[in-house]
Amino acid sequence: MGWSSWNNFGPDINETVVRDTIDAMERLGLKDAGYIYVNIDDGWQRYKGSRAEHPLEVDPVKFPNGMKPLADYAHSKGFKLGIYSGPGDSTCAGYTGSEDHAAEDAKLFASWGIDHLKYDSCCSHSDAPQAEVQQVMLDMSTALIATNRSIVFHACHCGWANVWEWAAEEGANQWRIGQDISDDFNYPGNREKYYFDVLDMLDRGNAIAQYTGPGHWNDYDMLIVGLDGESKQLVGTGLSDLEYRTHFSIWSIMASPLLIGANITHLSSYDLATLTNKEVIALNQDGLGQAATLQYSSPDNSTQVYAKMLKDESMALMLLNRGTTTADVTVSMRRDLTVPWDVYRMRDLWKGRDLGPYDIPFTTEVQAHEAKVYRVWKVGCTVGC
Ligand code: GLA
Repeated sequence: MGWSSWNNFGPDINETVVRDTIDAMERLGLKDAGYIYVNIDDGWQRYKGSRAEHPLEVDPVKFPNGMKPLADYAHSKGFKLGIYSGPGDSTCAGYTGSEDHAAEDAKLFASWGIDHLKYDSCCSHSDAPQAEVQQVMLDMSTALIATNRSIVFHACHCGWANVWEWAAEEGANQWRIGQDISDDFNYPGNREKYYFDVLDMLDRGNAIAQYTGPGHWNDYDMLIVGLDGESKQLVGTGLSDLEYRTHFSIWSIMASPLLIGANITHLSSYDLATLTNKEVIALNQDGLGQAATLQYSSPDNSTQVYAKMLKDESMALMLLNRGTTTADVTVSMRRDLTVPWDVYRMRDLWKGRDLGPYDIPFTTEVQAHEAKVYRVWKVGCTVGC
């Protein structure tokens, strides 16, 4: 959990933005809610162009004091600092990359006190041979381990080459399941350069949910909560408050990394309440480390039920309305979720309200594009307990 600079700031990132972000995350209760990683994405490097022609250095205008003091500042406040590079000669935004310099760069990052590396092969490199991508990711993973510093490794390959099938074995802690997210809930049709909206990410992630587990996560991309269609980096027109909440519910129950992408200092109180709901975050951070999976879909796929078990043997449940009109959704423990719970109690995690106990299927009204999220506990059962 943390923040990443890209979705809002793109390459216009600097020391002041990072410090202000750290201060705001502390002040606004985001740190207390668990958002610890402050990740500087592409654009911190001094040079644009080829690594063969330029060294990898910090841009002295954007970061006049260098990275080490910034990492020290983050650590002094209880945060961790992340940085970005890629295995190419240059990065996606055209800055010098780490090609042929993995060991040297890993040492450099460790010497600064870096805690997280997003190592990005670029979404445009879908045609890179898989063996080659596997090798360059392994080179960096090995180099990070050799530094003896604990650095979270994001092997970013935009969902190409079935990265979820091999990245964990190479030591990656997270990998993107697709290309960049767009600031849309459900964009009608394809764009020229294809981006994935919130529901696209859900469907992609649900199909590969089994690859997520403790320490190695399907990454649904940085959160768009609070961008409000104003990002210069992402396409998309923004979501309603409720849709952003649904987006957050999905990322939480699917156990995706939760990296806020908005300008922290501009978040509305509604969006802050969304991002700091501790009971929803608890589903994301649960010790079993599982992603929910689709349990039931209505014939027209407009209403869906997702669920996963949690470490304390309760269940996380999400009732999603993908359609455009309010709908009733019914869930039966035995029929839909195949748990032998005749009597159960629930808590509505967005309303903060306890419900039940019930001994009948549960029915509720779900608004268009709303996700209702519950935690469910067994109270009793008679058969197959
Ligand atoms: C790619 C990634 C983005 C971001 C940019 C930076 O597009 O998918 O998340 O890191 O590169 O250039």
